[in-house]
Amino acid sequence: MQAGVADFLRTKKGEFPDQEGNKSLLRFLTCGSVDDGKSTLIGRLLYDTKLLFEDQIVALENDSRRHGTAGDDIDFALLVDGLEAEREQGITIDVAYRFFTTKRRKFIVADTPGHEEYTRNMATGASTADLAVVLIDARKGVLQQSRRHSYIASLLGIKHIVLAVNKIDLIGYEKVVFSQITDDYLRFAADLDFATIQPIPLSARYGDNVIARSANTPWYDGPSLLDHLETVSIENLFAGKSFRFPVQYVSRPNLDFRGFSGQIASGRIHIGDRVTVAKSGQSSSIKEIVTFDGLLEEAVEGQAVTLVLEDQLEVSRGNVLVASDDRPNVADQFQAHIIWFDADPMIPGRSYILRTETDSVGVTVTALKYCVDINTLAHLAAKSSQMNEISVCNLATQTPIVFDRYADNRVMGNFILIDRLSKRTMGAGMIDFPLRRAENVHWQSLEVTRGARAAIKHQEPAVIWFTGLSGSGKSTVANWLEKLLLAKGRHTYILDGDNVRHGLNKDLGFTEEDRVENIRRVAEVAKLMADAGLIVLVSFISPFRSERQLARELFENGEFMEVFIDTPIEECARRDPKGLYKKAMRGEIQNFTGISSPYEPPMNPELHLNTMDETPANLARKIEAHLESRTTGPRSR
Ligand code: ADX
Repeated sequence: MQAGVADFLRTKKGEFPDQEGNKSLLRFLTCGSVDDGKSTLIGRLLYDTKLLFEDQIVALENDSRRHGTAGDDIDFALLVDGLEAEREQGITIDVAYRFFTTKRRKFIVADTPGHEEYTRNMATGASTADLAVVLIDARKGVLQQSRRHSYIASLLGIKHIVLAVNKIDLIGYEKVVFSQITDDYLRFAADLDFATIQPIPLSARYGDNVIARSANTPWYDGPSLLDHLETVSIENLFAGKSFRFPVQYVSRPNLDFRGFSGQIASGRIHIGDRVTVAKSGQSSSIKEIVTFDGLLEEAVEGQAVTLVLEDQLEVSRGNVLVASDDRPNVADQFQAHIIWFDADPMIPGRSYILRTETDSVGVTVTALKYCVDINTLAHLAAKSSQMNEISVCNLATQTPIVFDRYADNRVMGNFILIDRLSKRTMGAGMIDFPLRRAENVHWQSLEVTRGARAAIKHQEPAVIWFTGLSGSGKSTVANWLEKLLLAKGRHTYILDGDNVRHGLNKDLGFTEEDRVENIRRVAEVAKLMADAGLIVLVSFISPFRSERQLARELFENGEFMEVFIDTPIEECARRDPKGLYKKAMRGEIQNFTGISSPYEPPMNPELHLNTMDETPANLARKIEAHLESRTTGPRSR
């Protein structure tokens, strides 16, 4: 594929060539399963509307002869798939945008390639689309994939659907097949809240009903695809939305000037308008709107500006300036729809990074209310959410974030979830509403402080977190350590996995979900005990890094000490103090750590202890020495 064609087709998001005057703009995306012909359709559209230059057409014809799969015909898929190579080199971002113009309208197509990756690309790249073209292979009918993508489209707030029944040539231009598929789809989509659904029988390969009505489907009296795309009436996504301005940086070129720079996420702003800093609630008015091209009276959504306020307000990066008379939510608990696209499941209680337009904070799913069956849209009970599933959850962030309901403002209501360790994007979400209960539960201020409780015990609280395989010696070493500490007059407590599982965590087993919850609860208990001034010894397998990280983040720097009791599994199995390895190896215990369930060793524990060469008493002394030498301070990692 010649670079020229690719260059012509792809420009950066938002850079629509502006010579096209005041034509309206339609943003759309195509979806469907692998071979439904997404690329061919876009290629055909551009070719037939004569949006390719002569030399690009020649190049395409040559390429088709050499690499194409369409015989002597032009293989339109090559036109679009030419970008695939760049993508493999990691040059392009998830979603590429293509721009084209006809006499009546401007278009931006979000090209969301990559087959298994489709859900991810769709969810993260298409949230501003007005319309989705759902491609159906006429021979296959409405597939699971078509339903999933349509459901995601509806969640993303896309209101218009084109049901493109493609490859109609391959079923002899039969009306019955088309009608059946249409009925099928309409039945499914009845509950999805689309404003319009336009079924069109077409052949992307031969051009039937793509830019003009085809003589091969005389029974079809609707519009051609292009005709529909050019005329479907769409409401302006941003019209009437309140002013939201995420501050990207504070601009301070000299002492006399202080402005807040960023891009207007929604709404408009005029000199003199009242604005409020979302998180602090402080207000002021707009004094100046500065751009590279000079001062403006007014600016609207999409524009990059620097705002100067009448008063000196504290506005840090990541905060949001908003319309004073219509403020967003600032809360730390909310309900959301989540689309999960990672191979590792989403597990309630596990900590992820939540990133919005403005915030990036730790978050946990506090309740997975249900997953959605995408075939029937029924609500299914679930303990975790797997790849490609959609769920409805309550979430709690570590600190309050600024957001609107997704239904009110797509930019301010969406987020992604990122894995803490690998930094992979694992899911995307749409916020439904803040949780009332968060508003009504406050922190009670208490007069006896944490410091006072510790001082009366003449000690600094600490959490010594033992992790390691079952039988590695965690509890034995912890036991020795507690005796040493007691002898020095320290106030201690041991939280031991086996023991806590007899009481507080009686309801939990050994699945990944239950272990995550097991550790979350015990970390919270350890925090309460440290608050009470105790030195807490936690002895749990705690096999997963992310939960140990979650535990760590609950404490001040120096207060939390991770001790890896490193014993090879062969040795644990040889010791087998409870006879569990024997049972596990006979297949009598499921999800046994190290055998049928993973153990993720710590990467940077404060202490890494090897039990093969030293006695438990010696190891306990090492921990005690470490404990004595520590310095505490604010949280750092
Ligand atoms: S954790 O993985 O959730 O942290 P925890 O430390 O609470 O585990 O409990 C581990 C103890 O439960 C083990 O020491 C062992 O005695 C017992 N046990 C029972 N079944 C299992 C299992 N499938 N895997 C690991 N330990 C198990």
